[in-house]
Amino acid sequence: MCSHISSDRVSLIVDVDTGIDDALALLYLSASPEADIAAVLCTAGNVPVDRVAANTVAWLDVCGRNDVEVAVGSPVPLVAPLMTTEDTHGPLGVGHAVLPVSTRIPSSRSAADAWIELTHERPGELTGLVTGPMTNLALALRKDPELPHRLRRLVVMGGCFHHPGNTTPTSEWNVAVDPEAAKEVFDAFSAVPPERRPIVCPLDVTETIEMHPHHLRRLSESAGSSPLEDLSDDQPRGHRSSASNEVVRHLSDALRFYMEFHRDENIGYLAHVHDPFAAAVALGTVPFTTRAATVDVEIDGRLTRGTTVADRTGMWGRPTNADIVTRTDPEAFFDDLIDRVGRYVRNLKALPDTN
Ligand code: RIB
Ligand code: CA
Repeated sequence: MCSHISSDRVSLIVDVDTGIDDALALLYLSASPEADIAAVLCTAGNVPVDRVAANTVAWLDVCGRNDVEVAVGSPVPLVAPLMTTEDTHGPLGVGHAVLPVSTRIPSSRSAADAWIELTHERPGELTGLVTGPMTNLALALRKDPELPHRLRRLVVMGGCFHHPGNTTPTSEWNVAVDPEAAKEVFDAFSAVPPERRPIVCPLDVTETIEMHPHHLRRLSESAGSSPLEDLSDDQPRGHRSSASNEVVRHLSDALRFYMEFHRDENIGYLAHVHDPFAAAVALGTVPFTTRAATVDVEIDGRLTRGTTVADRTGMWGRPTNADIVTRTDPEAFFDDLIDRVGRYVRNLKALPDTN
């Protein structure tokens, strides 16, 4: 068991399947002076990869970060047929938000090559943050097995251990989309020193990160936006925000879809925002505790394919390869996110076109 908090500057490779909570993670990082975003890499997951890329460049433009490289990754998992979830994230992957179409063209290099080249250029400096399926990282590891030794750290949103799955009874979405990739990533990090072990943010903890309408209302107030966002369960589905602040308006439209989805799933009118929590873990801006384990992924089980399994006491006689986040302080996370993002978007000026 150990706890972490720091506020050093963190240089990041961010691999996403944007996605509503991926978008909030990118906004959180954009609003964080500690974060140096080296590149954002796209993988198929919540929606197909070309849609993920379009969402990511458009959202980074809205967040004032049209300076960040966006590279497109694998359109399909390593082995499994592609599975997407438009019912969770909306037909375009950003809920009810209608983002301005970006004029930016993604990078000419693939996401896997970006993983390899960036970690060669900046050995030991970069923290990987994966908030989608691990396909791109697994492809990079196949091409360059030494990659784990060039990463400062890896943080993954994925898996579930002593907690129900959200995709099958025992598997979490990012791992369920590409179980082979997740297994290859955990296997590849079995030989790194303890201080470089992947930090895993599973549903066990990320489903305690419940964003409610009052959090968004506070964020809109912190942003100086008006009228204050007041999402409620009795408003018509798809009701659009009229917020004066553009980022608040799009974020509200995206989150409304996500809250409607959680309500339809009988979870409540709220949104589990998994990915910005993983981003805060990567920056060290949220308190959390971890427990070391050996993690592997079931890929053959008829009922259990995509299940992450943690051996915490050495039963398998294999090296420890993960620090699993076991506890955090959700309200401390939201207080920080609301303050950080509110201040950032309040002062955001549209960036000049980079093309
Ligand atoms: O299971 C939650 C994860 O799957 C989040 O990263 C969400 O964006 C989806 O990718
Ligand atoms: Ca995601």
